[in-house]
Amino acid sequence: MSNFLSELSRRRTFAIVAHPDAGKTTLTEKLLLFGGAIQTAGAVKSNKIKKSTVSDFMEIERQRGISVSTSVMGFEYRDLQINILDTPGHEDFAEDTYRTLTAVDSAIVVVDVANGVEKQTEKLTKVCRMRDTPMIFFVNKLDREGRDGFDLLDEIEQKLEVKLCPLSWPIGMGQRFKGVYNLYEKKLVLFNPHGKQEDEDIIVFEDLSHPDLERHIGESAARELRGEVEVLETVYPVFNKQDYLEGKVCPIFFGSAVNNFGVKELLDCFVEIAPTPLPRYTEERLVKPEEEKMTGFVFKIFANMDPKHRDRIAFLRICSGKFERNKNYRHIRLERELKFPNPTMFMASKKTLLEEAYPGDVVGLYDSGNFKIGDTLTEGELLHFKGIPAFSPEQFRYVENADPLKAKQFAKGLDQLMDEGVAQMFTRKSDGRRIIGTVGQLQFEVIQHRLESEYNAKCRYEPVNLYKACWVSAEDPKDMADFLDRRKRDIAIDSDGETVFLAETAWILQTAQENFPKIKFSFTSEG
Ligand code: G4P
Repeated sequence: MSNFLSELSRRRTFAIVAHPDAGKTTLTEKLLLFGGAIQTAGAVKSNKIKKSTVSDFMEIERQRGISVSTSVMGFEYRDLQINILDTPGHEDFAEDTYRTLTAVDSAIVVVDVANGVEKQTEKLTKVCRMRDTPMIFFVNKLDREGRDGFDLLDEIEQKLEVKLCPLSWPIGMGQRFKGVYNLYEKKLVLFNPHGKQEDEDIIVFEDLSHPDLERHIGESAARELRGEVEVLETVYPVFNKQDYLEGKVCPIFFGSAVNNFGVKELLDCFVEIAPTPLPRYTEERLVKPEEEKMTGFVFKIFANMDPKHRDRIAFLRICSGKFERNKNYRHIRLERELKFPNPTMFMASKKTLLEEAYPGDVVGLYDSGNFKIGDTLTEGELLHFKGIPAFSPEQFRYVENADPLKAKQFAKGLDQLMDEGVAQMFTRKSDGRRIIGTVGQLQFEVIQHRLESEYNAKCRYEPVNLYKACWVSAEDPKDMADFLDRRKRDIAIDSDGETVFLAETAWILQTAQENFPKIKFSFTSEG
């Protein structure tokens, strides 16, 4: 195998997604410890914005700092190069998480055993399902009292519309937690609450009817486990890797991240089944990772991290070919060649200059304002990667320049913050007013604060009564022209120049859909 193909087949790029507090940071840290990427617990900082500090902008800036350095956390394990892409913890930044999910090949979903499926678990897994991203579930905090295992399986299957395949099963929980039975490898893994991972007691148990089971976990737990495993084996499918890779079935594990229990089982299974870099669709064609020519897209941008410099870092996911330092690449939107003297690999708080990168890798590119989220780089071919849609925001406000002498700074600041994907901006055609749309409340405050501190500009918000922004299109330009003419007042354009219908209420949207059957209304910018 050529060096390129062997590097490619070593890559596993994934994200850990969870509702805040389920244990994403803790699990990430344990995985990095296994890979030797960090040496001590506590090295990975949580990028959570604590509720009590929502309006504390120092905290937001601090979190931005953490988010840059933890954007990609790479480590080697059993000869594989594993890249974990970090996702923001706060739900108001959910859109950032959606975009990060376009850059991964699989996901691990963490669920708290006591809380079960939570709001963010639903939203994030829905995005994974839209793209058939393979998912592995990890039920965390078994050292605490929580929900019955079968109830949890039912809840996950029903609420998240997935089919599960349990590969490990808990023996008791909380005070009575004795360990897990690994159904995949038929091993009993005993929990020692005061032990370290190396002390994990593993006993191979091909046949659960063996009387030794009682000796290890006691009579009642043994009886219960035999009964439960029998049910599992009749109700749930035998694990099939192909079904997992196609997103049709999701393996599920149980453990306790903070105790480093069950994490190794999860990781060992992950490296065996998780997909190598997957092909990706562009508007023009399917791009396969093994293609020789480099292609990639930008899915995340951090700007102005250092107030003294107008610096930005754009994160590029390599989709095919080998990326090389100082080589010319085509920036498709700008129709220009660019080369990068200082491409960076972020490896869990370590930053290194890199000479080359392979499909599945994420490269940090220093940028002076050339990139927008969704931009494509190639070796010349005209391609546009798909799957980085903007979602219809949930909250809207008019934004006005509050300092007439700073109009230029205001416009520039807003444009750059939109390039970064902090929020979306729509300009109403009838009166030219700008409307900011966000997923959460927090972004309005973030924009106001960053305009002031980074651009020396001031903004003012005014309420606007809006329910949804939908991207509209039609096959026949005449239908579109008629629609635009008749709904003049409700039409705006987004930052990419796409036409958007602003619906004030659900009812208005519904009647517009009924009255204009030839118009396609989409809730994402990609339709
Ligand atoms: P997140 O990134 O998903 O938001 O969660 P994070 O890992 O920060 O974990 C949230 C809280 O849950 C932390 O406690 C963490 O220690 C705890 N935790 C994680 N895994 C387990 C587990 O297996 N069992 C138990 N009992 N707790 C677990 P915290 O009090 O918020 O923070 P800290 O002071 O402990 O860091």
